[in-house]
Amino acid sequence: MRKPLVAGNWKMNGNSASNTLLLDGILAQKNTFTSVDVAIFPSAVYLHQVQIALERSGLSWGTQNLSQFRQGAYTGEISAAMLKDFGCKYVLIGHSERRGLYAELNLDHFVLDHIVADKYEMALTEGVSPIICIGETPEEHATGQTEEVVARLLDILIKQNGVKALAQTVLAYEPVWAIGTGKSATPEWAQEVHSFMRERVAKHDRATAESLQILYGGSVKGDNAAPLFSMPDIDGGLVGGASLDADEFVKICQAACS
Ligand code: 13P
Repeated sequence: MRKPLVAGNWKMNGNSASNTLLLDGILAQKNTFTSVDVAIFPSAVYLHQVQIALERSGLSWGTQNLSQFRQGAYTGEISAAMLKDFGCKYVLIGHSERRGLYAELNLDHFVLDHIVADKYEMALTEGVSPIICIGETPEEHATGQTEEVVARLLDILIKQNGVKALAQTVLAYEPVWAIGTGKSATPEWAQEVHSFMRERVAKHDRATAESLQILYGGSVKGDNAAPLFSMPDIDGGLVGGASLDADEFVKICQAACS
């Protein structure tokens, strides 16, 4: 049985005062969601604030990105060792909004996927669990390339680090067309893609595939979370906008418990 995980990606939102309110609001209700893992991903400048608030709460935290390099002259970057130093259990890798920034450098898919794989390897070496975001753009969706996009990155991850490394990994299917649009994928569509991902891993190792948490992300809200999470291959959610409202986020965490 896979334990569900709900991850709140705050993106570039919040300040010290609003973060305190949000965290207090979630923690005040934490007894209402006990059979789900919950993790918060603030902007990195608030990592310490979140660490202090969540220490000994049972909730986890992490950052929205990390460097593929170990240390040194990489201005503005954050290393995996720094995440470890601040008690991060998880790190988001390959979010489509980050890919968008890289794409401005005109890097192609192949290079982008390899940067993700390098970051993945770096997180693993520090024992921080990577949450790898995978999803097709609206154009790729419209032209039926979803499986190809998902398979390409999975194959690179497996080739670079072996299938067993996925045992410490979480996958997040985040179709780009569903992010921040209010237009979530249907539970049936998401289930089909999640099942495809699990099968792709199972071709290498069925036990790893069966234990792998695969989250869905893209306009998850309090009122659409339960049908999504009831699907057999959807093991929780990666939540953006709705994670900025304590009650809404708690509702999603509760939906993952039932
Ligand atoms: P929304 O929930 O705002 O659509 O964002 C999803 C997301 O990008 C989480 O990483």
